[in-house]
Amino acid sequence: MSAVILHFPDDATQAQAVGQRLGIPVYPIQWRKFPDEESLITIEGALDRADVVLLATLRNPDVIALPLYFAARTARELGAARVGLVAPYLGYMRQDARFHAGEAASARLFAQFLGNCVDWLVTVDPHLHRIRQLEEVFAIPATVIQSGRLIAEWIRQHVHKPMLFGPDSESAQWVAAIAEAIDAPHEVLEKHREGDRSVTISAPSAARLQDFTPVLVDDIVSSGTTMAEAIGQLRRMHDGPIACVVIHAVFAGDALQIIEKAGASTIVSTDSIPHPSNAIGLAAPLASAIAARLGDRTMPVA
Ligand code: R5P
Repeated sequence: MSAVILHFPDDATQAQAVGQRLGIPVYPIQWRKFPDEESLITIEGALDRADVVLLATLRNPDVIALPLYFAARTARELGAARVGLVAPYLGYMRQDARFHAGEAASARLFAQFLGNCVDWLVTVDPHLHRIRQLEEVFAIPATVIQSGRLIAEWIRQHVHKPMLFGPDSESAQWVAAIAEAIDAPHEVLEKHREGDRSVTISAPSAARLQDFTPVLVDDIVSSGTTMAEAIGQLRRMHDGPIACVVIHAVFAGDALQIIEKAGASTIVSTDSIPHPSNAIGLAAPLASAIAARLGDRTMPVA
């Protein structure tokens, strides 16, 4: 059985890094937009009986979902034996309930959509909150990579006497694990969200901040409001550097500038989404997870 990675334009760097580690070929998916914005997806190269790995980070799920569906179904029509999806960032997982009457519970619906496109999934630290495990919403096999070990290593190497902060209860799972890995103290703050760009965050306990470098850790920065508010609280009682580490650098609009303006000294992210803040590479765990999904049937496509 042969294997090949097909990737969307934004994922070229990650695809090359992963393909090199696995020793399998990497091809771009051709994605042309017609004048009316409809997409033409073209897959070049032979796929006969191949294991196809589609690499597509889902930072803009509304834009990429249909092209992803076209690519997956076309790969199968062209002879692929199996089609797997590697989505380092899995969009829509925050909308995991019907928060107000009539709303779509998008996380489940999006998972069903993806499950109908591909045979397996590899992703990194999905936002799991009310949905405890991906298996609750995905009928296909799914591998979750945890970036905590790599983040812990980055903090160990770059931050003097770190004290970790999570801006809300949802971040506790990541903050606690990373703090334990580097034997650092941590505190999880309380967040109340009033709107997309309006949150309040509780003050940290001042006494514990002394002599430490605060490191805010969150899984997603979207509008930047959460990070900015948390930095504001820390800044009230801390003059020194404040670092922000984010797993998924969604950074909608001017989020990066908002966080910088709030007083962050350093802002870094994993490369689950390509962004100037990327400092923590995921190619190694992605390659291992893909290799495990492909099993020992992996051989380069000629
Ligand atoms: C939610 O709980 C997430 O962990 C993030 O805190 C949230 O998505 C950040 O969103 P924003 O940057 O828009 O405040």
